[in-house]
This record gives sequence, C-alpha cells and structure tokens, in this order.
Amino acid sequence: MKKTLLVPLAGAVLLASCGQAGNGNAGPVYLDVDRPLEERVEDALSRMTLEEKVRVLHAQSKFSSAGVPRLGIPELWCTDGPHGIRPEVLWDEWDQAGWTNDSCVAFPALTCLAATWNEDMSALYGKSIGEEARYREKDVLLGPGVNIYRTPLNGRNFEYMGEDPYLASKMVVPYVQQVQENGVAVCVKHFALNNQEAKRHEYDAVVDDRTLHEIYLPAFKAAVQEGGAWSVMGAYNLYRGQHLCHNEYMLNGVLKQDWGFDGAVISDWGGTHDTAESISNGLDLEFGTWTNGLRGETSNTYNSYYLADPYLARLRSGEASMEVLDDKVRRVLRLIFRTAMNTRKPFGSLCSPEHYDAARRIAGEGIVLLKNDGGVLPLDLSSTRRIAVIGENAIKMMTVGGGSSSLKVQHECTPLEGIRAAAGDKAEIVYERGYVGDISGDYNGVVTGQDLSESRSESQLTADAVALAASSDAVIFVGGLNKSAHQDCEDSDRLGLELPYDQDKVISALAKVNPNLVVVIISGNAVAMPWADEVNGIVEAWFGGSEAGNALADVLFGKVNPSGKLPFTFPAKLEDNGAHALGAYDPDAVRVEYKEGIYVGYRWADKMQVKPLFAFGHGLSYTDFSYGGAKCSKSVVRSSADVQVSVDVTNIGQVAGKEVVQLYIGDDESSVERPVRELKGFRKVALEPGETRTVNFTVTPDMLKFYDPASGCWVLEKGSFTVYIGSSSTDIRTTARFEVR
Ligand code: BGC
Repeated sequence: MKKTLLVPLAGAVLLASCGQAGNGNAGPVYLDVDRPLEERVEDALSRMTLEEKVRVLHAQSKFSSAGVPRLGIPELWCTDGPHGIRPEVLWDEWDQAGWTNDSCVAFPALTCLAATWNEDMSALYGKSIGEEARYREKDVLLGPGVNIYRTPLNGRNFEYMGEDPYLASKMVVPYVQQVQENGVAVCVKHFALNNQEAKRHEYDAVVDDRTLHEIYLPAFKAAVQEGGAWSVMGAYNLYRGQHLCHNEYMLNGVLKQDWGFDGAVISDWGGTHDTAESISNGLDLEFGTWTNGLRGETSNTYNSYYLADPYLARLRSGEASMEVLDDKVRRVLRLIFRTAMNTRKPFGSLCSPEHYDAARRIAGEGIVLLKNDGGVLPLDLSSTRRIAVIGENAIKMMTVGGGSSSLKVQHECTPLEGIRAAAGDKAEIVYERGYVGDISGDYNGVVTGQDLSESRSESQLTADAVALAASSDAVIFVGGLNKSAHQDCEDSDRLGLELPYDQDKVISALAKVNPNLVVVIISGNAVAMPWADEVNGIVEAWFGGSEAGNALADVLFGKVNPSGKLPFTFPAKLEDNGAHALGAYDPDAVRVEYKEGIYVGYRWADKMQVKPLFAFGHGLSYTDFSYGGAKCSKSVVRSSADVQVSVDVTNIGQVAGKEVVQLYIGDDESSVERPVRELKGFRKVALEPGETRTVNFTVTPDMLKFYDPASGCWVLEKGSFTVYIGSSSTDIRTTARFEVR
C-alpha cells in the first residue's frame, strides 16, 4: 500500500508518495523516504537559500525551530524531558499555554531507573516516554541526562544515572534506542562535565584528561555510539575556558570527530554566548537565548540570536564559511528527517494503562531496601492492625517543581494514597505530618492544588507524631528531600548532606517509641542518616513519578520483593566524598578543579578505605542469595582475547527474588595508579526459592584498559587482574584471577 502525504510546497500542495521502494515517484528526492538519508539531505540542502539555511539553526519560539516552509520541511518541536513530557508553554514564555490535553504520565526519576540495574527497565522506560512524546507531536525529547554524580550536593543528580560510568552507559543505551523507535530524537544532556548547579553558567570545570575519558565521557559515548543518539545538548558551564555549548574540544573534537556523531548539537536554553564561537565550535541549533522574540522589539528577538542575523551578516560578508554552515544545516536536516519528517513513525499514545503499568514497575524495581533489621519489612497485614504514616513526603506531590523536568501529570499517587489502597480494610492507616517542609506546589503555573498549610508549632507536630507512633503497631516515616530550591532542584545545589526541616529529630523521637519504624527517603541524592542505628528499616524510594505511592506500597507490603541497588554511594558524612574531602567543591568558585580525579564515588571510598553509610551497588531483598566460587575460562590470556567468568547464585530464602550480580575488576599490577576495582558487568537474575542459576560474564580486553593522556589512547597492560563478584561494591562474595600476557 502506498501512503499519500500532503506537503505544502511553495504555496501550493504537492502530492508526495511514500511507503514503497522504487515507486517511480518523480517528486523531490528529499521527500522520498525510500532514498538514503544522505541523498535526501543533500537534495534539500541544494534547494535552500542562504536565509533558509540560517533559519533552521535557531529557535522561533521557546521550544521550536522554523523548518523550511517553502520546501514543506516542517518545524522541529522539542520538549523536556527526561521523566515525562512537559506541558505546553506559551510560544514565547515559560508560562503555561493553558492546554487541557497536555498532562502526562510521570515516569520515575532517572536515579530510580538507574537503581533498577535492569536494562529491560530502561528499554521499557524509553518505549513508554517515547510513545508519550510522539503522541504529543514532539520531535526531540530533551533527555536523558547522564552527568556523573560527583557530589551529593548537585541539585540535578535526580535527573542523572549515578556515579559509575559503566552503569550509566549500560542504562542509557536502551532508553535512547527505544525513544528513537518512535521517530522522536533523544537529546542527551548536558554534554559534558555539568556536575553541579552552583554557578552553572559560570564555572569552568578543570579536569585532567584521564578523568574526563574514564569517568565523565563514557555514558555520553555509549549514548552516541551504541544508542545512536540523534542529538546532544551542550552544557551551561565551561571547560578549558570555553562554554560547553560552543566548545571546540568537546563538540568538534570529541563528539563529532572522535565519536563520529552525525546528529545535531543543541544548545542548552540560554547557554549560547558568542557568534564566532558558535559558528566555529560545533553548535548546530540555538535555543533559549532570549525569550521575547514575539513582542515586536528590535533587539533580543529570535532573529538576533547568535546563530541568526549576526551569523547571516558574517556569511554575507564572507567572514564565515559556507562549508561550516552546510555542515550545521545537514545535521539539522538529518534530525528533522529522522523525526518530524519520518512518515513511518508509529502514532504513540498518552496516559495509557500500559504507561502507568510501566511507571509502577520501574518505580518498584528501583526502590532500594537499605536496611531491614529483624525483618521489619515487609509489613504483614494479617498482624499489623494500625499503621502510622508520618511525614510530609507521604502526602506531597513530587512531580511539580525541580526545574525543567517539572510535569503536569494526569494522576499522581502519593505514598499515603498508595499505602491506604494496599492496606484496604485490613489495617487502619493513620497519618500525622511530623514536620513542615515545602508547602508550595507551583511551577511555571502548574499547580498541584494541594493545600499543605499547617498551623501547629514544630514541637506540637513532633508531639502529635510521637503520640500516634506510640499507639500504632508499625510506623512508616516518609521524608527526605523535595523539589524546591536547594534540594533536588535545578539551578541551585543543596547546602549540606543533612535532611532538611529537622527531620532527624522527628525520626529519633519516633524510634524511641516504636521499634517497628521504617524510614522511607524520597530523594534523588544521598542524605546523612545520624539515626541509622536507631531504626530497623530504611528504604530509598526516589522520586517515583505518577505511580510513586503504589510502587512504594508494593514493596512495603511484599507484593514486590525489592531488587533495586544504589547507583551511587551514600557517604556517612560529606567529607567522605572525594570532591569534598579535598575541598574541591565550592559553590562560589568559578574555577572548579576536579582534584579527586578518577576517584569518584566508591572509587574514592575504596581507595581511602572509608566505610560508606551505604555502598554503591547495595540493596537488600526479602530473600537471601548465596554465591558459589567465581570461575574464569582461562587463567592466562592473550591481550586480545576475552575471558568468560561465571558464578553460581542461589536463592536460599523463602520467597522469589531478584539479585543484581555485580562484577568488578581490579588491576593488580599497573604502571599507573588505578581504582581498587571498577564495575565492569552486572546481571539481574530472578530466582525462585532454592533455585540456582549460573551467571555468565564476558570480560573483554577493553574492560581492562586505562586511558593514557600522553598518547590519547586506551592502554592494556600485561599482568594479573582480579575479578570481584558480589552483591555490592563492598559486599564481595567471591574473587578469581587471570593474567594477561
Ligand atoms: C535545562 C535543560 C532543559 C532546558 C529546556 C534548561 O534550563 O538545563 O535541561 O532541557 O532548560 O527547558
């Protein structure tokens, strides 16, 4: 069957055909979806005037660029990203457009996705959010984010995938692929070295080359080379003294030349600062520089963008080259052909039952059981008659706020609602606030509609919560951070590792009156837990999205056996983190030296032998797993050969569960200092009680290499390597060795 597409062309309407190869259609090559992409790009390029070429390189509204109307090349529409599809804003303002059909399903924050350690969950996430983007007619989804978790104070860590380059690389690829299956481009952000919000437009990240390549670039590289990302967003901050939205080394050197990226580099909104640098240093599409383009003003309009009239003037005067211009236009055309002009993309869907189901599954699988002394969890509804739920985060909607990832959801299930629904009439669920945190519920005009005002004093709130806890069989405290400034929020960093609003005091007071206390932390960051020894149960539940409450209840009552693992280290105190230990994080500094180098997260904890509060990769289950001995296929290998490593894992408990078997490698003899061990493999295996499975890993030569800054190459040295297999980065159950000759 041939499909017919109506394309406006030069004021007329052209009948273009698409659908079958060799259909004899005499229309322009660029409209023929059966022709190779590059032929179509060249054809379109050859038909564009100079003005049209420049016009596709910058915004025409907050989230769109103009396309080429004369040729029937449509506008390109972007949307945030990365946890759901942002509601429509006005053409020229951040305020709401006031649509009634733009609410979405909020998927869990990317920290939660990373905590699933399950690539299938990432694929499900990408498929689902991609379908929502497609249904809303978006061409570019501004996400996912893969900036490495360098400090627990970074306000945007919740939008990223943790501290480890291998984990983030594995988790980002299926997300990218599945979004793009919908004819929607991802825009991987924020490239690169955007590891704090303090001074985000001004700070220059000073990083040595080895650290850059071993820690901060791999996830971006995987998204581009393995995922095939169609666009990448430059970061706000600087590197080597140049803003990352027009950074010669990073964009032209690393991304386009070294990695062969053929897509478009999109600026972060307001991240462009200079015409000459934007032209020559790899920026292709400029967004968000100014906001008042429609008001008939003569300056600060979209035409005044760095890649608009100022660029045109340089082209006309011969100051700027046509080759560079054409390269940018080709990249933008590729992006448009892959998305907006992709006539074969599926239709997508919005707020479908499947999407809610996906959100709930991912959230449930990402929840991490940090501590479970005395088997306080799961709560048994046949013996627990009265359950006290305490804490503001039990009732607060978390999908509104936090910056550009803020959403307008069709529905959000809070923890209290989820717990109530799960308990039904089997237990009495009673609620107390305990403390007051952030009562606002408004972001760019999206309002939660919740009235969180409170008239009681702090001491009264604590007293009321303690009284309720004392008269209940079990207590679930739901606290943590929220999406307001200086918490898990864009544009500011946290001010400390501690929980805000004196929650520590409330938790300690509750612990004194009820031993069956479970503390649930809602956050995208590690928090200090001075009360950790006082409570029996601790759960990290992240920002769970639309199904947050149901997913939490699934875990608390044992419908879902927790299998999430931490994607970053929880240090006992801030100084146990490398950047902070070395005084290499200063929110006021404009020169941020990454003095800890490659020793980020667990790499620092292992090197300094500091015991984390909870280690990278840690997460308990309602069952237990035993590990057999690790076996390597060879004890001596050639430097070009793979090694097969296997281990038997058995569920030795009473219930079915999933274990994330983690493989780390340490280089025993190296000419350079290397981390004690680094994650190089993981598998999530589902096991019935008593079941044993053999888990296999392939260790490739690439996994053994380090980056040598002098040669700019990855180097494999001969000698002995140790394979560590375990349940977390510190809970190593078995080791094996092999030697590379
Ligand atoms: C953020 C980006 C976001 C963009 C558009 C910026 O402030 O840094 O992550 O995609 O705004 O909303």
